[in-house]
Amino acid sequence: MKMKLTKFQDLSLEEKKEVLNWRNHPDIRKWMFDKNEISLENHLNFIQNMPKNRIYLKAEDLGVINFKISKDTVELGIHKNPEKKRVGNILLKTTIDYAFNELKAKKIVLYVFKDNIKAINLYKKFGFREVDKKDNLIKMELIKNEELKTGSPKNQKIFWGIEENGE
Ligand SMILES: CC(C)(COP(=O)(O)OP(=O)(O)OC[C@H]1O[C@@H](n2cnc3c(N)ncnc32)[C@H](O)[C@@H]1OP(=O)(O)O)[C@@H](O)C(=O)NCCC(=O)NCCS
Repeated sequence: MKMKLTKFQDLSLEEKKEVLNWRNHPDIRKWMFDKNEISLENHLNFIQNMPKNRIYLKAEDLGVINFKISKDTVELGIHKNPEKKRVGNILLKTTIDYAFNELKAKKIVLYVFKDNIKAINLYKKFGFREVDKKDNLIKMELIKNEELKTGSPKNQKIFWGIEENGE
């Protein structure tokens, strides 16, 4: 089964509330640039007036992946459903595939807080390299065709499972 990705604009009201609850969970928003809770009103307003260069996708019940597109570079963001464990590999693999295959990006960039060790390790595992450091942020990038396709060997089966079944 391939991962089902749904644009925020196509979610039901219940689902829009669900992804907002994930984003507002303390374990998630502490790693966001804006650490404040987002109100339902602001959330719905953002979705309704989504800028053309932004894509927000709900990845089943696992989490959210998002992109900011500028020419052939995309900036990515990910966060999981805080109730889920060990979904980082699947979320990031999906994000990389979407950026390179659907959005035809040549380069993916991201910004991560220096103390977000878990996320940094996850990104490195897929081939992201640190390219800049400023204050408490690290900038990382991944060039097309330089990605490590499998992550760690123990996750290889999961990736292939997602990609091959149900195609
Ligand atoms: C980042 C995030 C998506 C990872 O998902 P997760 O389910 O928590 O992570 P996983 O358990 O799948 O771990 C994935 C990888 O992260 C790294 N990792 C996990 N736990 C770790 C820890 N305690 N210390 C260091 N690295 C760790 C490992 O490389 C691991 O790979 P492995 O499977 O080979 O061990 C999730 O924690 C999240 O949404 N965090 C809040 C939002 C966020 O930080 N987003 C990124 C902003 S730039």
